[in-house]
Amino acid sequence: MLLQRPFKLFGIEIRHEPAVIFNLEKIFNELGPFDWVIELGTGNGGLAIFFSVQQRIRGGKFVTFDFDLEGKTGKNPRGVQVDRLKRLSISYQEKDIFSPRTRGSILRRIKEGKTFLYCDNGNKATEFRTFAPHLKPGSVVGVDDWGTEIREEHVSEICKRQGLRPIKQWIVGARQRFWLKDPADPVGREGR
Ligand SMILES: C[S@@+](CC[C@H](N)C(=O)[O-])C[C@H]1O[C@@H](n2cnc3c(N)ncnc32)[C@H](O)[C@@H]1O
Repeated sequence: MLLQRPFKLFGIEIRHEPAVIFNLEKIFNELGPFDWVIELGTGNGGLAIFFSVQQRIRGGKFVTFDFDLEGKTGKNPRGVQVDRLKRLSISYQEKDIFSPRTRGSILRRIKEGKTFLYCDNGNKATEFRTFAPHLKPGSVVGVDDWGTEIREEHVSEICKRQGLRPIKQWIVGARQRFWLKDPADPVGREGR
C-alpha cells in the first residue's frame, strides 16, 4: 500500500506512492525551514497543495511550474484545475521550465537562499543537470522516478563536484531520491 502509486491526497490523484508524504514531511522537519520550495511539474496539483501549506505554516515561499496546466497538449494527461490553485492562492507559473526566461527565473529563486527543489516533470535528468548545480548550502533537491527516468549515471558527476550528498537515513521506498547540498561544503569540489 505504502509503495503503490497513484494515491489520492485531499481527493486529488497524485502519481506517487503515499510514502512520498512521509519522505517530504521528514525533509521539512529534519532539514527545513526553506526560503523557497520549487516544484517542477504541477501535474494535478495535489503535491502543490501539500508544499504550499508546508511553506505557509513554516514561513517560506512556494511556486509550482507546469507548461500544460489544463492538459491541452496531452503532456499533462489529467489537467489541473487552475481555478483550484487560484482559490487556494497557490503561486503557479504556466511556463516551460527550460525556456531561457523561465530557467533564469528559477535560477534567481534558487540563488536567493536555502531551497527545496522537487524535480517532477518530463525530463528529470535535464532538470537536475540544469538546476541542482546552483543550489545554496543546506538546500535539498529531490527527484521522482529514480532508477527509471533518472539514474546514478545522470547525477554522480554533478553530486561529486557540487557536494550533493544522498539522503538515505529515513527515506521510505525507492522511487524518490533526495540530496542535501552539504552546508559545510559551500562550493563543492569544483570550487577548490
Ligand atoms: C508527473 S507530472 C507532475 C506530478 C505532480 N508533481 C504531482 O505530484 O502530482 C509531470 C508534469 O510536468 C509537466 N511538464 C513536462 N515538461 C515540462 C516542461 N518542460 N516545463 C514545464 N512543465 C513540464 C507536464 O505537463 C506534467 O503535468
